Amino acid sequence: MSKRIVLAYSGGLDTSVAVRWLIEELDAEVVAVAVDVGQGPGESWDAVRDRALAAGAVDAVVIDARVEMAEQYCVPAIRANGLYEGKYPLVSALSRPVIVRHLVDQARHFGAGSVAHGCTGKGNDQVRFEVGVRCLAPDLEVLAPARVWGLSREECVELAGKWEIPISVTKERLYSIDENLWGKAIECGAIEDPWADAPEDAYTLTRVSTNDAITTTIGFEAGVPVTLDGRKLAIAELIAEVGRLAGSTGFGRLDIVENRRVGIKSREIYECPGALAILKAHSDLEDLTLERDLHHEKARLEPRWAELVYDGMWFSPLKAAIDAFIDESQANVTGEVRLRFEPPGVCRVEGRRSDVSLYDYGLATYDAADTFRHEDSEGFVAIWGLGVATWAARQGNVE
Ligand code: ARG
Repeated sequence: MSKRIVLAYSGGLDTSVAVRWLIEELDAEVVAVAVDVGQGPGESWDAVRDRALAAGAVDAVVIDARVEMAEQYCVPAIRANGLYEGKYPLVSALSRPVIVRHLVDQARHFGAGSVAHGCTGKGNDQVRFEVGVRCLAPDLEVLAPARVWGLSREECVELAGKWEIPISVTKERLYSIDENLWGKAIECGAIEDPWADAPEDAYTLTRVSTNDAITTTIGFEAGVPVTLDGRKLAIAELIAEVGRLAGSTGFGRLDIVENRRVGIKSREIYECPGALAILKAHSDLEDLTLERDLHHEKARLEPRWAELVYDGMWFSPLKAAIDAFIDESQANVTGEVRLRFEPPGVCRVEGRRSDVSLYDYGLATYDAADTFRHEDSEGFVAIWGLGVATWAARQGNVE
């Protein structure tokens, strides 16, 4: 009996060639699984499914995981203020564990002993796929055809032609793009020279289409965005709507050099208007509602959380433990943040409020409403500085 393989399928060139390659090289039965994480494939999902079948897949499944992506992956990222190296909101890193979950489910469903992905050996996504599968299903074999075949992009196009796989290589030819609800990653082509400015045509989600500033208020409950200008919205819609709005003012572009897990520095362009606006608002609300020590400790853990997620450790015990800390920290992150978007590309927090705010007007004010007991500070400051004052006094005696 031939081997059955469940392949993570995007509909693009590499994974389409991978379908046929696995059949030819391993005499396998290939089931293609496409997961909708909000990428907007630029064509119908039916067309994606048909292409997998045309390439020779015995079955092709499309799974709508948009709500799951929003609720179970974007929400934890918001609560963790998830930014890798302090900048990148983990767009691709968040979607890979979603895909892995479904890949493993489908492998079980179809009784397959192997799963496969189309990543090359140079990126992070192979790490996320493989480490993810090993966490959820250590018994499954993981295959990475694109790491084995050693084909250039041109050779892939040629093979697709020879195998009569209908490929529409349009924009893809210029850039390698990965998109989901949380934003878009753009690599390759003209961007590979880190000194060269990114061409304007690389951007699609952050083109300025208004000259007017836009003000909008995001309401949070326990660290989760739930309302937009007072309207209750499901999280997937809220993310999309903030993204559209922020993107129309040109906000949300990143142009960075980042450290991949495999040791390569890479120049990356991202468009994450919704993600960056929501993260800005969430983190600002924490400034208002988190007790100082909790806030500082959380800030120390956040880079570690982002690193784990970036490095493919979504299902690791350390990540789970940090998540538990973060969950506990979010109970009072409830309130509203007003953002102002000023074209082109500026977003700032205009105001914030919360019923559980720790900002106490009486304590903060310098006017007549002051409730702070100034006399208490004298003893506090004397004892706070006692150690260093003692040290300083001794310095004079030591020559
Ligand atoms: N550098 C980003 C990351 O590692 C983006 C990866 C984009 N993936 C892709 N297959 N184009 O998360």
